[in-house]
Amino acid sequence: MPSLPVLQVLLRELTTRARISRIPEPKLVMDGPDQVAAFVHAGREAGVMAPVYLFHGAQICEVIRPGDQVVDLACGPATQLAMVARLNPETRFLGIDLSEEMLERAHAYIEEQGLDNVELRKSDISRLESLEDASADAVVSTMALHHLPDFETLDRTFAEIARILKPGGGLYLVDFGRLKREDSIRYFAYQYADRQPDEFTLDYLHSLKAAFSLEDFKRARSAHLEAHAAIYSTFLMPYMVAIKSAARRAADSELKRNLAAIRSQMPPYHQRDLKDLTTFFRLGGLKSTLLR
Ligand SMILES: C[S@@+](CC[C@H](N)C(=O)[O-])C[C@H]1O[C@@H](n2cnc3c(N)ncnc32)[C@H](O)[C@@H]1O
Repeated sequence: MPSLPVLQVLLRELTTRARISRIPEPKLVMDGPDQVAAFVHAGREAGVMAPVYLFHGAQICEVIRPGDQVVDLACGPATQLAMVARLNPETRFLGIDLSEEMLERAHAYIEEQGLDNVELRKSDISRLESLEDASADAVVSTMALHHLPDFETLDRTFAEIARILKPGGGLYLVDFGRLKREDSIRYFAYQYADRQPDEFTLDYLHSLKAAFSLEDFKRARSAHLEAHAAIYSTFLMPYMVAIKSAARRAADSELKRNLAAIRSQMPPYHQRDLKDLTTFFRLGGLKSTLLR
């Protein structure tokens, strides 16, 4: 059962006529040293985003296979990428980002983790000229699309994904969806303000305001990715939206064990957040077969 404050936000979102407009991120590419440091800090294994990374990591594992070449769009400091690469040592990954600062962090993290199946490249995710048509077995992206300046760029990015993805390839794109009310956005942004740097709280607030709407995602998916993947959102309130292809591998017991081990090391409040996210997505139609 979700907490009472979340239920209150849900009720207000369902009954409101309000609809706030999108406000693009003040910094589209994340290259401010303080902003990058705060994001890295919040994201590492024990940070506030740990449950979110575990949920998306498990989803990504379903759509990739050993031997695949996987492209991670806007990989940032590679927190998500390193987790998935560690869990899938037989899969090769290419992380793409436009920020030098983020890529430096990503390089350091990949090296620190001793991973030899990850490459990184500076590139714009809406212009993937360096990647050939049908060259990726799978494409993934987590919590990054809201950094794109406008719907046209989101649409172009989806067209690029369709171009580089092999037929029958795996896909998992996930990002925030735009809520209707300012106070809902503020609730989520400030929910853990006491556990995270102020810079991260502000960054989170900007992200939620810059989120594309569920309708935007539906429109861009129908135009380019309909044949590849279905669209899901968290139940009743599209706080998060995911576009996911069919699973491409049978549920693997070793993967399940490794994911369960990560979960068991989380403090109880992170395990509760993970359960909430899993429940809200499951009720929205997105199952999580590797995380029980
Ligand atoms: C919020 S971070 C998400 C990072 C990572 N995917 C994760 O889940 O932790 C967003 C990233 O998008 C990158 N970014 C923004 N616009 C981009 C673009 N047009 N092309 C490539 N990267 C971009 C930023 O530099 C930043 O690293």
